Amino acid sequence: MSTDLHDRMRAHYGAEAQRMLGALERRDAGDPGTALPVLEDVGLACCGDASGGAGCAEAQGSSFGPELYGALERAELPDAAALASLGCGNPVAVAELRPGETVLDLGSGGGIDVLLSARRVGPDGRAIGLDMTDEMIALARRNAREAGVANVEFVKGTIEAMPLADASVDVVISNCVINLAADKDSVFREIARVLRPGGRIGVSDVVAEDELSEADREKRGSWAACYAGTLSFAEYRSGLAAAGLADVEIVPTHLVADRMHSAIIRATRPAN
Ligand SMILES: C[S@@+](CC[C@H](N)C(=O)[O-])C[C@H]1O[C@@H](n2cnc3c(N)ncnc32)[C@H](O)[C@@H]1O
Repeated sequence: MSTDLHDRMRAHYGAEAQRMLGALERRDAGDPGTALPVLEDVGLACCGDASGGAGCAEAQGSSFGPELYGALERAELPDAAALASLGCGNPVAVAELRPGETVLDLGSGGGIDVLLSARRVGPDGRAIGLDMTDEMIALARRNAREAGVANVEFVKGTIEAMPLADASVDVVISNCVINLAADKDSVFREIARVLRPGGRIGVSDVVAEDELSEADREKRGSWAACYAGTLSFAEYRSGLAAAGLADVEIVPTHLVADRMHSAIIRATRPAN
């Protein structure tokens, strides 16, 4: 499945990844003046979004990107992986990963959460990043090589139609991507399909307060900047439940715009 929205997201995030890949190439070619960009600096931050973004004043600062990770986590990663972070939370911190587990990161971008997950599940576990943008996959693979992490795999595909077997993963994580999806119900059904019975999700995403209309959400920023495509708390909860997921918990962590929050979303696939 590919949609016009997918094409627009690919163009947007492909250009972001290409900016980092270009800087890495210049650095590797020995240009001493090359500073790696912080991708969150340009175009994606709340009020940096080209479409404006009403009510963002109170959400400036570290709502998105590398600052949401602790110093110890950032020290585990190559610079380019940390600086390429475009997330709105730290799902690895809430997923309580255990050695030997298989983790799937939806919309893995430059790979930050895949690399952190791979270290936590250890050599007997596996971390898989799924992303539809070629340049992001190239950046993530490069970051994994530089980090020397072997138990990772980056797969190209959409989160609405995941190229993964039924019941093949223990944990699904994601960082600020489900709001970008063209068809959220398909994403929730696919999560339930690929999770093993008893498996769980630990997701960070932007969520709108229930009374915000679609027009209100669009006023806060574009789809690519993680505003216009957000679900409300009630929509998130009912979408996960309709897909058969249980124990749904949605906890807001910080404000990213007026009546829009970054939140941690947890749920499980029932064991039976
Ligand atoms: C906001 S960035 C987040 C990247 C990463 N999770 C992070 O925290 O840095 C969104 C990523 O999701 C990918 N993406 C957006 N929509 C997608 C879809 N429907 N299916 C697969 N990947 C998608 C983009 O290519 C991009 O790499």
